[in-house]
Amino acid sequence: MYSRIIGTGAYLPEKVLTNFDLEKMVDTTDEWIRTRTGIERRHIVGDDETTSDLAYRAAVAALDSAGTRPADIDLVLVGTTTPDLIFPNVGCLLQERLGIRGGPAFSLEAACSGFLYALSVADQMIRGGQVVRALVVGAESMSRIIDWTDRETCVLFGDGAGAVVLEASDEPGVMYTSLGADGRYRDLLYASGGVSDRVRQAEAGTLKMKGNEVFKVAVKTLESMVDAVLESNRLDKGAIDWLIPHQANIRIIKATAKRLQVPMERVVLTVAEHGNTSAASVPLALDVAVRDGRIKRGDLLLLEAFGGGFTWGAALVRY
Ligand code: ACO
Repeated sequence: MYSRIIGTGAYLPEKVLTNFDLEKMVDTTDEWIRTRTGIERRHIVGDDETTSDLAYRAAVAALDSAGTRPADIDLVLVGTTTPDLIFPNVGCLLQERLGIRGGPAFSLEAACSGFLYALSVADQMIRGGQVVRALVVGAESMSRIIDWTDRETCVLFGDGAGAVVLEASDEPGVMYTSLGADGRYRDLLYASGGVSDRVRQAEAGTLKMKGNEVFKVAVKTLESMVDAVLESNRLDKGAIDWLIPHQANIRIIKATAKRLQVPMERVVLTVAEHGNTSAASVPLALDVAVRDGRIKRGDLLLLEAFGGGFTWGAALVRY
């Protein structure tokens, strides 16, 4: 028994913030942002929009492309680190909006790796026979936890959502997933403003990152993770048809592609238009390349992400 992706969807909020807009807000330049990160613009949620709104739009598009009715979904799982509320979780809010009843609905937080974590959990639940069809979403309103006076972080992030419908199948499908974490790095990248940490509540709701230290660990970790994925699946370098990476930084993406010997024209890149949308970035990129016809049925995909925690994850998928 495998799980297979039978539909994809995505949603980006209407408002666009360009590097030139940011030049007017903080001491930065379009040139610095483009050369250091590859980002040119990002989408930002409206004042009355929430993460579950973004998730809902992406989910509707994914259900539509799968030809699946909400009533046929028996698991709703959302990777997000910017939920609407402390509870109910975004999975429940989304389940209610879609009119799905009764099956499990939850969200999990693994920062930028949230979608890979969610995909892996949903895949295991399908393989285990617990559910048949799952809606798996990555959705974020990162702009809500950004310090808009901090040029080192505010230029990096954007908002959006991506979704897939997974279905039980005799054929692969999700062939392999791998997840990891190392909490010793908790202070290199975090967002305070939680519930129980009274000390850090004082700096509520803003993302802090030691960018160049994160960069180094990200490159190393992703390189050893993709090596392990190839080895565990007895695949040669160059065997991957499409790399769908987390879109944090074009330089990190290039390092991973080089390690895998995947040429850059076989890497799905959305970082220029979307920025780092955290858990949304991988399903957003997947949807872009499925809809524009680059990714075809039968292609071998490698999805990967690295983020706060630190957390990381990869999935090898026969599309
Ligand atoms: N505009 C202009 N100058 C800037 C800006 C800016 N927006 N931001 C920083 N600088 C300056 C710095 O102050 C520094 O100046 P100095 O040399 O005078 O001290 C200089 O630019 C270089 O700064 P670095 O931090 O060394 O730049 P670096 O090349 O490392 O790029 C970046 C920074 C883009 C943040 C990079 O380190 C990065 O991408 N890190 C990884 C991010 C990531 O992958 N995060 C994980 C996922 S996120 C999640 O989980 C939520």
